[in-house]
Amino acid sequence: MVSQPLFDLTGRVVVITGAGGLLGQEHALAVGRAGGIPVLLELSPEALAAATHRLDAEAISHLALEVDLTSENQIAGAAGEIKKQFGAVWGLVNNVASNPPMGSAAQGADRLEAFPLTQWDHDIRLGLTSAFLCSRHFGEQMAEAGGGSIINVASDLALISPDQRMYSVGLPEGASAPVKPVSYSVVKSALLGLTRYLATYWSPIPVRCNALVPGSVGGTQSADLTRELTSRSPLARLAEPSEYQGALVFLLSDASAYMTGANLVMDGGRTAW
Ligand SMILES: NC(=O)c1ccc[n+]([C@@H]2O[C@H](COP(=O)([O-])OP(=O)(O)OC[C@H]3O[C@@H](n4cnc5c(N)ncnc54)[C@H](O)[C@@H]3O)[C@@H](O)[C@H]2O)c1
Repeated sequence: MVSQPLFDLTGRVVVITGAGGLLGQEHALAVGRAGGIPVLLELSPEALAAATHRLDAEAISHLALEVDLTSENQIAGAAGEIKKQFGAVWGLVNNVASNPPMGSAAQGADRLEAFPLTQWDHDIRLGLTSAFLCSRHFGEQMAEAGGGSIINVASDLALISPDQRMYSVGLPEGASAPVKPVSYSVVKSALLGLTRYLATYWSPIPVRCNALVPGSVGGTQSADLTRELTSRSPLARLAEPSEYQGALVFLLSDASAYMTGANLVMDGGRTAW
């Protein structure tokens, strides 16, 4: 690919959390294709291997580390190891979150009244606390080096409430329908607050921080849910996994040099409707 100078990430080291997942792999490819060096933090060895395989296929140099992002010790260890190998990182994509497929929870356990406190604690720890901890460890490196870019991956559900009516469509009368858990909305909304906090914290050092606000990616939902989501999208479709690559490179590159503390909403227009 011929790199556009404004969007060029040549030599920039970018840490991606939950990098073996559906979107994490796309973020890593996007960084590599723009000339950057993706560093993948991921718990699952299988997911890490799948991501590495795709990067190797395009000869993208990268570093893959098996890290539990709920552990500050492991995050600090990874930050030290990355610094030793590359020096300070340029970018951080706080991408990891708990977002299980609808209907995968035990019946009724996703409802507010029954939602287990252990699950709430885990979801907050993985989706929000990890973003705080990674921003602390990697943001400090960026500030010392004189700049960088942090991206918090939120969701359209940071801006609107889940329409729980969607999840009962197609179920037999009287069946207990799944709901989107409260922790997801709370984590994603809180990331927008963290974004504004971080955007100003190191001022005037340009450690920029912005939120990427994606809508639903297709292919992982039931046919009924896909239809419901599609009907709420002015573009009348769900996203392809690769469609956030451009926004990610924009936020990491000098093309967005005067942008910080902002939410880049890319949701097929769902929240405009
Ligand atoms: N997929 C969508 O439709 C969609 C829509 C809007 C926003 N998002 C957001 O985008 C981000 C990525 O979503 P996704 O669909 O790729 O998720 P995913 O579930 O496919 O990927 C998450 C990855 O995190 C890893 N992980 C889980 N626990 C971990 C831990 N303790 N330590 C390290 N890694 C761990 C998992 O193994 C997995 O590879 C999430 O923040 C999600 O909320 C996704």
